[in-house]
Amino acid sequence: MVAGLLFEKPSTRTRTAFEVAVLRLDGKAIYLASENLQTSRNETIKDTARILGDYLDLLIARVYDHNTVLQLSQYANIPVINGLSDLEHPTQAVCDLYTIYERQGSLQGLNLTYVGDGNNVCNSLLLGAALTGMNMKAACPPGYQPPNQIVKKALELAKSTGSQISIMENPQKAVGDADILYTDVWVSMGEDIEKEKRIKDFQGYQINSALLETAATGAVVMHCLPAHCGLEITEEVLEGGRSMVWSQAENKLYSAAGLLEFFCNENNISTR
Ligand code: CP
Ligand code: NVA
Repeated sequence: MVAGLLFEKPSTRTRTAFEVAVLRLDGKAIYLASENLQTSRNETIKDTARILGDYLDLLIARVYDHNTVLQLSQYANIPVINGLSDLEHPTQAVCDLYTIYERQGSLQGLNLTYVGDGNNVCNSLLLGAALTGMNMKAACPPGYQPPNQIVKKALELAKSTGSQISIMENPQKAVGDADILYTDVWVSMGEDIEKEKRIKDFQGYQINSALLETAATGAVVMHCLPAHCGLEITEEVLEGGRSMVWSQAENKLYSAAGLLEFFCNENNISTR
């Protein structure tokens, strides 16, 4: 396989995990920084997708606008993996669900509480939970709740798995029966202009020892990283005995390899 990684935004984990996974599967990875592509000089995504699809076997794309990944997938005629968009971060959710499954042995009926911004990571977790029968509560401040289209889709998917999905404002009310507490940054890539306002608006939505104390005994903590200690999580919790964050991050590599094998098998692409 020759895999392209088209990235419009920075990445430490997703990029490296996918590049290493491609190499470990004896394939080759090519990093395509968007600033070096002709898209930076207004070539369309449609034309770019058609050309890349002719050269590559598979594409992993990290983009600002979710429509970009949809267009890449529509015109490239090869598998396109969303490596994060403004709307979803599905490879993160696959890694997270795998990490939980590895520890607990199942996902069905577990309670995951997400505290913070109803962003791409939260959205993909909602869809992942709904698909796998895990229950999920998202506690997000007003104005920062996951978009209706995602909640609607999650509720629809949940009908066949029995997953309970709810969106609320009060983090204290959301953590009571949580087996897993999850958070992500308050300011995502592309939102830096809103930083000050967001930091104010997210006060009270930090995962800290006091909040963790109110969760179920043995509840664990997850964060997709990068973390900002003192904002969405405290260092004490991130580095504490209930943090699964580091094994979660390590699993980005194994879940990337699993996804690549899956897409290669599905599309008759040799991993080599
Ligand atoms: N969690 C995650 O996607 O990290 P990167 O931004 O470093 O890829
Ligand atoms: N919500 C974050 C996730 C980073 C992995 C962002 O989009 O920046």
